[in-house]
Amino acid sequence: MSHDTLALVTGANRGLGLEFVRQLLAAGRRVVATARQPGRATDLNTLAGEHPGRLHVLPLDVADARSRAELLRELPLVTGGDGAPRIALLVNNAGVLHSGERFGAVPEANLEDSLRTNAIGPFLLVQALAPLLADGARVANLSSQLGSIGRVSRFGTPSYAISKAAQNMATAQLAQALAPRGIVLVALHPGWVQTDMGGAGADVAATDAAAGLLRVIAGLEAGDSGRFLDWQGEPLPW
Ligand SMILES: NC(=O)c1ccc[n+]([C@@H]2O[C@H](COP(=O)([O-])OP(=O)(O)OC[C@H]3O[C@@H](n4cnc5c(N)ncnc54)[C@H](OP(=O)(O)O)[C@@H]3O)[C@@H](O)[C@H]2O)c1
Repeated sequence: MSHDTLALVTGANRGLGLEFVRQLLAAGRRVVATARQPGRATDLNTLAGEHPGRLHVLPLDVADARSRAELLRELPLVTGGDGAPRIALLVNNAGVLHSGERFGAVPEANLEDSLRTNAIGPFLLVQALAPLLADGARVANLSSQLGSIGRVSRFGTPSYAISKAAQNMATAQLAQALAPRGIVLVALHPGWVQTDMGGAGADVAATDAAAGLLRVIAGLEAGDSGRFLDWQGEPLPW
């Protein structure tokens, strides 16, 4: 299989990340799936066994500089060794939501962790991986409508909302930086999805959200870079 089909998905141990990996493998792609603790990523490791040579599971804590540097060192080893791997699709899916925050008692640690995981980490990861991205690659940053300043109607999950708004700006900035290479970056809202983060009462099944987002990604054109879209391709206000 050509290196041009290589996809990298972060936060793939469970939830949407795992579903992206399943569907990308089913579509015949070669996938690098990252997890904070690959040894405990039972579903990913089962998938790797079912798709010999097509799924590589590597450790990554997106919020940790040393872990990001280690991923950069390991990537060429698992993706063929015949030169730099060319990543055609990067899905920055890893994310954290600290629930239960109340005005007057929002912990600084929640804000710091959210910003590091949801905004700073993905920004620095794209910057570091840029030399390994194929020209014309797609980069999907999993955002949220809760990061839309235009949609704010109540005080809720401020650490998450602030970090996703920051991530949206990171997407817009990176879209500009990588435009000369035809690399298309988008901020994507997956809907309210049935995962550990979204809860069982959410609207959309993870399989449907991932399928919708992969359809949106497949339909992206150069002019879409820097846009904020939902899982059905509808634009969201910043
Ligand atoms: N579910 C929704 O309704 C919804 C709505 C809007 C946006 N989103 C976004 O969609 C993405 C996926 O969400 P989800 O619902 O699948 O969430 P989830 O079920 O909570 O899974 C989150 C994943 O991110 C990983 N992760 C957390 N912190 C990390 C870090 N520092 N480094 C690397 N990985 C880390 C987790 O790893 P471990 O397994 O090791 O904990 C887990 O695999 C997130 O960016 C989220 O903000 C979700």
